Amino acid sequence: MTEKQYGGKTGREGKTDTKPKTQVTTPKTMEKKDKKEKTTKETSSDMAHSFKKANEIAEEIREFTKKIVKKDIPLLEIAEKIEAEIIRLGGKPAFPTNLSINEIAAHYTPSYDDKTLARGLLKVDFGIQVNGWTSDNALSIDLENSEENKKLILTAEIALEKAIDLIKREKEKTSLSEIGKEIQTSIEKEGFKPVVNLSGHEIDLYDLHAGQTIPNVDNKTNAEIGKGIKAIEPFSTTGVGKVHDGNFSGIYSLIDGKTPRMLKAREVLEFIAEEYQTLPFCSRWIHKKFGSIGILALKQLEENGNLHHFAQLIESSRGKVAQAERTILID
Ligand code: CO
Repeated sequence: MTEKQYGGKTGREGKTDTKPKTQVTTPKTMEKKDKKEKTTKETSSDMAHSFKKANEIAEEIREFTKKIVKKDIPLLEIAEKIEAEIIRLGGKPAFPTNLSINEIAAHYTPSYDDKTLARGLLKVDFGIQVNGWTSDNALSIDLENSEENKKLILTAEIALEKAIDLIKREKEKTSLSEIGKEIQTSIEKEGFKPVVNLSGHEIDLYDLHAGQTIPNVDNKTNAEIGKGIKAIEPFSTTGVGKVHDGNFSGIYSLIDGKTPRMLKAREVLEFIAEEYQTLPFCSRWIHKKFGSIGILALKQLEENGNLHHFAQLIESSRGKVAQAERTILID
């Protein structure tokens, strides 16, 4: 999953809608805090081991996805198959599988009754978590045999490869603006645009967007990437290279543990805190567990300020968008 920026050089200024405003105080998150108090050595070996496993599963899911995605297959079926395969391989989905078509750059996941069929330029963005450590990945697939789609997809993949090669050379000293410049140059050379307000991100324990953003354009800062788990995700587009918020996505994350009034909402909140902690989840998963009363409870939790509701991200000129993403550990 990607991170949209809301202005300012680093994109963090004025950004209010994806990070918790208050500490989540559910029992499970308290447990997460305890985990963080382990010795640094213990945590870093847990991290390396769990992340490695998540990344291995990601490679298998990548191949599995290429096999099962065909034109006119319901997105619902694709999402459910990918998520079931992640579990079969010993991981957990770190967020709902995003299946975004054409000008939808990101954050479309099928609802429980979704009838949308796969078509056009489809981006499959999936995450695997093992013990709370996430590998975030995406690939794009052309389902209309279009030369332009194929070139757009290849451009995003090459940009990703170049960014990763740069990081392999410079390691934790790699400058963020150099990464952005590498991605921007390689996309613009092919006559496309990078999406300027979407970026890669740092990943921490049960935290998909842990603070640092990794730009897809030269943002003229000299900050270094540093150590840790980093998701690199260039987006190439035939459009103007910017996204705006579209309809709500049905993808949520827990931002506040305060008790809701309705009993059912409390039960659903407990489930979310236990099962997903602060990682994104979707209404489809809640429907699977609680049925339609779960959807009602979600609305109440949203109104009560417990949840952040992600918007779909739409290319502003309705240009087609391709995405490539991999997660790496710099240590
Ligand atoms: Co991501």
